[in-house]
Amino acid sequence: MKTRNSLRAALCLGIALSLNACAVAEDEIWPKVKSPVAGNANIENRVETVLATMNLEQKVGQMVQAEVKSISPEDAGRYHIGSVLNGGGSWPTGDVDGPLGGWLSLANLFYKESMSTENGRLAIPLIWGTDAVHGHNNVQGATIFPHNIGLGAANNPGLMRDIGTATAREVAVTGIDWAFAPTVAVARDIRWGRTYESYSSDPKIVAELSKEMLLGLQGHPALDNFLSEQKLIATAKHFIGDGGTTGGKDQGDTALTEQELFDIHGQGYVQALGVGVQTVMASFNSWNGNKLHGSKYMLTDVLKGKMGFDGFVIGDWNGHEQIPGCTKASCAAAINAGVDMIMVPEDWKAFSENTVRQVKAGEITRARIDDAVRRILRVKLRAGMFDDGKPSSHELAGRAKLIGHESHRAVARQAVRESLVLLKNEKTLPIAKTAKIIVAGSGADNPSMQSGGWTLTWQGRDVPAEQYKGFTTIKDGFDRALKSGNVTSDTDASADVAVIVFGETPYAEMEGDLASTDFDLTDSADFALMQNLKARNIPVVAVFLSGRPRGVDAVIKTSDAFVAAWLPGSEGAGVADVLVSSRYNFKGKLPFDWPAGGAAPFKARGFGLTHSGTPPK
Ligand code: GLC
Repeated sequence: MKTRNSLRAALCLGIALSLNACAVAEDEIWPKVKSPVAGNANIENRVETVLATMNLEQKVGQMVQAEVKSISPEDAGRYHIGSVLNGGGSWPTGDVDGPLGGWLSLANLFYKESMSTENGRLAIPLIWGTDAVHGHNNVQGATIFPHNIGLGAANNPGLMRDIGTATAREVAVTGIDWAFAPTVAVARDIRWGRTYESYSSDPKIVAELSKEMLLGLQGHPALDNFLSEQKLIATAKHFIGDGGTTGGKDQGDTALTEQELFDIHGQGYVQALGVGVQTVMASFNSWNGNKLHGSKYMLTDVLKGKMGFDGFVIGDWNGHEQIPGCTKASCAAAINAGVDMIMVPEDWKAFSENTVRQVKAGEITRARIDDAVRRILRVKLRAGMFDDGKPSSHELAGRAKLIGHESHRAVARQAVRESLVLLKNEKTLPIAKTAKIIVAGSGADNPSMQSGGWTLTWQGRDVPAEQYKGFTTIKDGFDRALKSGNVTSDTDASADVAVIVFGETPYAEMEGDLASTDFDLTDSADFALMQNLKARNIPVVAVFLSGRPRGVDAVIKTSDAFVAAWLPGSEGAGVADVLVSSRYNFKGKLPFDWPAGGAAPFKARGFGLTHSGTPPK
């Protein structure tokens, strides 16, 4: 059978290349990916032993994830809740500048309650998940790495593993076990508000970089560090087709053939399963009109059946309620489709009760419940959670010096350097170390703009600049790179060159969706400043902070040099590292096409100049 299929597939490929008319049978689209950590007899035996002791309420409770602001540790224990998360901008004490120890203290309380055996309860450790998507980005003082779009521009697989390792260490300090990362989206329309969470429009780049990020976050499945106390359980998200919706509409519809869906949006999952990713997050979008949270074919038949995924599927934030007939508090359809753990931030109690009732009524089979709970227990056992003791006893727990550690910041600063893409340079860069320069613009001294969404808060806004502890702004970087006294923010001063930092106001998810990629420069004080400087014969270097390419032709025309800096995060000095002197040259290449426009000679993904003006090899 296999031989005939592979022969047929090869034949099809040949025909397809010529006629583009070959329909490959469905069962040849999705490859079986053997997990490198599957089939451990000890783990599997313990799964069955624990499962056998659980009653229906305890099993259903394991499948429920509540938000930490909406559940007390006592209630989590009382209702056998298997997991909590902190959403973007949800801090244990409710304050962005609450004590770092507040995270670990709360993790200890949830653990203690989940391990209590009072009143016949079972000791099954609760797992805490967080969106550590560019560092431990909800935690004040953490190293904030460039968002994925910048890492895609850098396209340095080895650096990705270092970033994952550093991120895992900082998350481990706070007693949290699970990161909802990496996003393996392949954004195909940059009007999508989550474009910056995608490494590239190229599936191969997404697959390679996310694989390395996973090896950093989880450890290598062949090594002892896999899911060790310095590592995390990670998540490949959002399955599947999140970056392919029509018009880039967040949570919209991805209209593709099954082969196209696999070819474009499935490659990250093949790599992720291959290195033992333990969780996959279901996506809000639809595929050809069917919501992924309710797609048994995709979540069960394809991901678990054909591809062989043996971890668990986590739903996205109330994503189940978008299935026709479902509500936040009730959705047998999502569980029957293959969601193993439901992310139901507030309505966790009603959801648990309704699900127990649906099982008793036969709307959900007990076999389905057992399958979901097996998967959850398997992941918790693989991660050593049953044996490692309370969070504060773990190896890195409470080691506050690791938060924002200089070695992590050095990795982040290198990532910033390598993420920068030079799109224009008319004899202006690099800036001499002896130059007198103006550094100004809305993004020059703006930690929020240089980090984007998912930083301290969900939208990356509404937090005073002084709360971004440990940050180096882009202007700070120039202050340190040049002779003292040679950098000013006084835009009326005379200068050899001016660096004007401008860009997008931070956003996340649907709040970043655009109807057009045009960047509105009317009433832009930054653009007016550039024009004023040019009128005074001061060369202008435009540095653009954005979560995606935008139509900024007028700025490209006006400026003497133009640098796409994406969303660099806490280590803004990485910008001056490259723009001042020639110790570091530009490495970055466009991870997405730039919107067509007269001034943009560089429209194609893969373009990027070096100081000397020739595209990198
Ligand atoms: C959000 C996002 C997802 C994130 C989750 C928890 O809606 O879609 O990426 O992990 O909710 O914050």
